[in-house]
Amino acid sequence: MKAAVLNAFGQALAIETRPDPTPGPGSVVVDVAAAGVTGYADRVFDGSRNYRLELPAVPGPGGIGRVRAVGPDATRLQPGDWVFCEPTIRARDEVADTILQGWTYRTDAALPLHLLYRDGSYAEQMMVPTENVTRIGDIDPADAGRWCGLSRLLVPYGGLWAGDLKPGETLLVSGATGGFGGAGVAVALAMGAGRIVATGRNAETLANLAARLGPRVRPVAMTGDEAADRQAIADAAASPIDMVLDFLPREASRTQLHANLMAVRHGGRIMLMGGVRAELGLDYNWLMHREITLRGVWMYPPEAVPRMVAMIRASLIDLGQFDLAEFPLDDANAAVAYAAANAGPRQLTVLRP
Ligand SMILES: NC(=O)c1ccc[n+]([C@@H]2O[C@H](COP(=O)([O-])OP(=O)(O)OC[C@H]3O[C@@H](n4cnc5c(N)ncnc54)[C@H](OP(=O)(O)O)[C@@H]3O)[C@@H](O)[C@H]2O)c1
Repeated sequence: MKAAVLNAFGQALAIETRPDPTPGPGSVVVDVAAAGVTGYADRVFDGSRNYRLELPAVPGPGGIGRVRAVGPDATRLQPGDWVFCEPTIRARDEVADTILQGWTYRTDAALPLHLLYRDGSYAEQMMVPTENVTRIGDIDPADAGRWCGLSRLLVPYGGLWAGDLKPGETLLVSGATGGFGGAGVAVALAMGAGRIVATGRNAETLANLAARLGPRVRPVAMTGDEAADRQAIADAAASPIDMVLDFLPREASRTQLHANLMAVRHGGRIMLMGGVRAELGLDYNWLMHREITLRGVWMYPPEAVPRMVAMIRASLIDLGQFDLAEFPLDDANAAVAYAAANAGPRQLTVLRP
């Protein structure tokens, strides 16, 4: 099979011929139809993100494809089934040793699992743990790239799931101009949020988001003046903010973070999903007296995948919201460069092996 291989950090992906994978107990092999390329893939591949990824590897965290062959223990999956391949692999003996297939691992103990599944979706075929494959029902093969939007939608869904967003609640999405924050606004609307205060620095992107998603979305452009930003958020919310979903990136300031997080109501929930490097610096007494739930959330539970597929099937979520750019596997390096230069909230760059 053909695959895009990262042989060394800082090198371009090389298109190589690799042996076809064969499924064993606990795994299936999928013909990859489409695989998403994140806007920061270039920084993973040049080594600047310091991701732990043993090389050489076929990168690619998950994707959409058709089952090619199943292992001896598969009970329902059949060759030909259209599936979403979930990149989060949880070690069966220790949940802390979670890895992202074809992307990275974090703990030393997870190395054996990573070595088994370091190869991901930037290839014609990939081997995936059986439980990481979810049937999505029949689709038009031409839509496989668009179905990669699932990965973008599932991440914020994980935070909304963890925070138990309820219909009618008021939500603040911080970092709403980004890929995951913007998707979070769309998912929260589908889940029935009554009002969503969407914050970020880029007023134009926020205005576009609100124009596209409707009047339940209230954009607030951050100015960097914490008091003014807090007032603008309160004005836009008009009612207590039940939950904050934060997707601010590593560069964000504590001022911006606080303006968003501290907007939550007494007894509200804060879900941290971004990558902020600044000290959190939240006041102990503020958290305690206001009975705030503060929770970090990484990715989403496995049960979220079929639920999100059902929301798409029910037209609660429109995959047409993404601007799709598709590249053949041979142009993997062009796809990585394109994704880096076009990392807007609606942009979806995919490889079509
Ligand atoms: N928890 C998880 O499971 C999970 C999964 C995936 C990703 N993440 C993390 O989520 C974060 C967001 O990812 P993403 O792909 O959505 O990011 P993104 O699209 O690259 O950026 C998000 C937004 O950050 C804002 N931003 C950029 N520089 C900033 C600065 N100096 N100060 C304040 N805001 C700044 C930009 O909006 P404005 O210009 O409008 O401010 C941008 O739209 C990342 O840190 C990522 O690592 C977490």
